[in-house]
Amino acid sequence: MKILLLGSGGREHALAWKIAQSPKLEKLYIAPGNAGTSAIGTNVDIPMSDSFTGVKEFVLNHQIDMVVVGPEEPLVRGIYDFFQEDEQLRSIPVIGPSKAGAVLEGSKEFAKGFMQRHHIPTAAYKSITTDNLEEGLAFLQTLKAPYVLKADGLCAGKGVLILPTLEKAQKELKEMLGGMFGDASATVVIEEFLSGIECSVFVLTDGTHYKILPEAKDYKRIGEGDKGLNTGGMGSVSPVPFADSQWMKKVEDRIIRPTIEGLAEEHIDYKGFIFFGLINVQGEPMVIEYNVRMGDPETESVMLRIQSDLIELFEGAVTGTLDQKALEIDPRTAVCVMLVSGGYPGAYQKGYPIHGLDSIQDSIVFHAGTAVKNGQVVTHGGRVIAVSSYGNNKEEALAKSFANAQLIDYEKKYFRSDIGFDL
Ligand code: AMP
Ligand code: GLY
Repeated sequence: MKILLLGSGGREHALAWKIAQSPKLEKLYIAPGNAGTSAIGTNVDIPMSDSFTGVKEFVLNHQIDMVVVGPEEPLVRGIYDFFQEDEQLRSIPVIGPSKAGAVLEGSKEFAKGFMQRHHIPTAAYKSITTDNLEEGLAFLQTLKAPYVLKADGLCAGKGVLILPTLEKAQKELKEMLGGMFGDASATVVIEEFLSGIECSVFVLTDGTHYKILPEAKDYKRIGEGDKGLNTGGMGSVSPVPFADSQWMKKVEDRIIRPTIEGLAEEHIDYKGFIFFGLINVQGEPMVIEYNVRMGDPETESVMLRIQSDLIELFEGAVTGTLDQKALEIDPRTAVCVMLVSGGYPGAYQKGYPIHGLDSIQDSIVFHAGTAVKNGQVVTHGGRVIAVSSYGNNKEEALAKSFANAQLIDYEKKYFRSDIGFDL
């Protein structure tokens, strides 16, 4: 099978690594990929602007059999529908939801409405535009601090504000509606604040059946002890101790199954990953958000724990036969520690040579933001390298990742040495 994987981060390197283990793989292309994916498959530059005609041309010219979409952006823009609507592409499966399904991530307002319609536990909310601003200001008064404001649309992970006082919340609500995040915040979802520990749960679905993949916890803040600014994610741990079979049963009964059934009821075509961003509120799982893709850096630990052939699972997803596929999960712990550029998530420099990648032992390195310049691997993003490891427990796995994180060197390298501290 010839596969085209879209994306360029650590998630895509981890997906590529897993896909490449399949005996079914004949050829893997990654667009655009990074220095790490180029060692597994062939990186290709495909113009991804406005329409997907560049993808079409590539898929037809290279006889691609399946397209796997890493990030949400092409899904929210309708790449699945583009393939469905094109006579030449219709028979080529895309792993990812239709545009109607991708709205689960593309619109917070839609996601909240969906959860309400299907009785899926989530924070109380109100959806506000400039037309009902007064209602929003009044709703805020009924809530307790802190206050959660979410831009409805995609904001590259920056659209959520958590504000300590009513005064600040009311001021920021007006600013968001006034265009703080452009069109993405023309609608703002105000939410009740939920207090608890978060957990990312993933399924692969064919629209009817689903496989629950290993869950993971990610560490979003830049600073140790979960302090400081939000990042794309500084590390991950799988499994999550509190996500035991009893808790996961609640997740499946109250959240996963109602979501899959809800999608079917609403005639939403969905063959791909669903990422449930959950929070454990005194033992009860509640949904913080849906994403329509795998998580990053969760994928860099989750893929280590999937023993089954990922291409076979994808085939099950696109043919509606996921119930006939086995999902074997490695009982070991897998973790990932992310090495980032100094300054990230603020301004940072790129282009520093990365040394020491050859000296890694007992860990798996996934490139997140790297490029090759004059034959040398250099930093090319805020998140640079994910160091993933197995262990019989999280301490053992983390010890390997931390030791190897020390061996990799580039100017202004930073990583959190407390990943997993709260579990
Ligand atoms: P999101 O982009 O929806 O994942 O939100 C970003 C982060 O904000 C989440 O990972 C949570 O840590 C936090 N957050 C979002 N919604 C809530 C909520 N209702 N209560 C508490 N924290 C929240
Ligand atoms: N790790 C969170 C995300 O991928 O959105």
